Formats: sequence, C-alpha cells, structure tokens
Amino acid sequence: MKVGLLTSKKILLSQSPLVSLSNYFLSKAISHTIINPWAINPDISSLRDFDVIIVRILQREYLWIAQYLEEMGVRVINSYRALFLSGNKLISDEIMKQSGLKIPRTVFASKKKILENVDSSMFPALVKPLYGRSRGIMCVKSVESLKNLRKKWIYLQEFIPNDDGVTRIYKIGKVVESFFHPNEGKAWEVLLPDEIMERALRCFNRMEMEIGGMDLIEGADGYYALEVNDFPAGVKRVENWLEIIADYLVETICTIGQEEI
Ligand SMILES: Nc1ncnc2c1ncn2[C@@H]1O[C@H](COP(=O)(O)OP(=O)(O)O)[C@@H](O)[C@H]1O
Ligand SMILES: [Mg+2]
Repeated sequence: MKVGLLTSKKILLSQSPLVSLSNYFLSKAISHTIINPWAINPDISSLRDFDVIIVRILQREYLWIAQYLEEMGVRVINSYRALFLSGNKLISDEIMKQSGLKIPRTVFASKKKILENVDSSMFPALVKPLYGRSRGIMCVKSVESLKNLRKKWIYLQEFIPNDDGVTRIYKIGKVVESFFHPNEGKAWEVLLPDEIMERALRCFNRMEMEIGGMDLIEGADGYYALEVNDFPAGVKRVENWLEIIADYLVETICTIGQEEI
C-alpha cells in the first residue's frame, strides 16, 4: 500500500501536523512518502500509483492538485469536495446553516449594493475575505468605513461580542472532540451541548470532511458557527490523534481493497 503525505515545502519546514504524522509513521514502520508538490518528478501524473494521499496544502490555488489526484483514482484525504467547500466562507455558511447551526448575520454583495442597502444594525461588523485562512479580517464600525474599501464584493458579518476565545470542534475520522481556545494561554477540552455536536457532525459529513475543525464563538444567545477548516493544526489537541489517523488510514485502505473486490 502506498501512502503519501502531500504538503508544501514551507509547511514541511514548520511544525506542521504532517511532519508529526510522518515521524509517527516512521516510529510504527508505516511506509509512506512525503510529497512536495514542487518536487514532483517528472509530473503530477506520476502520483497515480498511490493508494491514499493525505493532502494539506492550505493555499487555494493548489486545490486542483486534490481534484487531479481524485480524477486519477487516488483516494484523497481530505477530498477535493471538502477542501473546496470549506475553503469558501459563503458556501460553508450555507452548509453550516443547513446543518442546523446558527451563524452570525452575514451579507455578501457588491460594494455598491451594500453601500446602498445595508442595515445599520449590522454594525460593528467584520469584513472577511471569502477565501483564506486567518488573515485579512477587518473590523468596521459603520457603513461609511466601507466606502474606501478597495473591493468589488464584500462579505460582511455582524460582530458577536465575546471577550474570551474560540471554541473548536475537531474531527478525525469518527472521533469528534471540542476544545476551548482562550485568547491567551493553552486550550482545554470542553463538553458542548449534544445538539451542537450533532449539527457540527452533520456539517462535516455533508462537506465530506474527514480530518477537520469547526470554529465557533459563544454569544449571549448561544453558539455561532464561524467556519470549517481542513486539517487544522489544532487536531493535535485530540488525545492520541496520530494513532487515530493511522487507524483511520488503515481502515480506509481496507475499504478500498473491498471496493476492488
Ligand atoms: N462574527 C464574528 N464575531 C466576533 N468575532 C469573530 C467573528 N468572526 C470571526 N471572529 C473572530 O475572528 C477569528 C477569525 O475568524 P474566522 O471566521 O474563523 O476566519 P479565519 O480563521 O479564516 O481568519 C475567529 O476565530 C474569531 O475570534
Ligand atoms: Mg478561524
């Protein structure tokens, strides 16, 4: 069985969970290859022999790699669908809502239409990039602040006052756990209402997210879901996460074998 871990060079040099995963696989003699997309030789079709490739690319422009691998018949974790859907805040919002989760009031429209029609009760609000992780969010106090923004389309979300931190639900295969990440200091495990956990799981499943995380904040009237991330570094919080991923891979590979029969 050929297992690949595909991640960019920059990530390989950092504290990426894929580096920990590779070290764990080495310690358990699980054969695998780390694939740097920049160094694929001679071209990406040479990866068709892999049975499973865990993809952690993070940059949207390389999403096509997952799609291409799937078209070649390689089992990709997370799938192109999961990467694509979670990578777009507007689409994630829709799936989170359909899964029964509450999200902050959000509008997405052309700047012109927002300036004309936005309800002033939306403010203070956050302008977020539609794609991308952890950068480029801006807080705006009133519609006037949007006038000089150099954007044609604006994703605007009501700010939910909360001063303590973010709650994150992590999923690895069938294991789902939640943690509270305070603004400062170490995260700790928390128990969320069953209803929230069930809805988050419904959302992960709809996105086909196998290794992922959901960010939520607690407002005065309950939890608001903010976004879903593929393979967030925080999965390291889940106890025995490396073992859980390794077991999940073995299970996945066995299922591929059965499908072939
Ligand atoms: N509507 C909101 N109200 C209050 N805080 C928010 C809101 N949306 C995001 N935040 C804060 O900003 C952080 C980043 O937002 P998020 O939507 O998770 O985007 P990303 O992590 O991709 O930058 C969140 O973890 C949270 O602390
Ligand atoms: Mg986030």
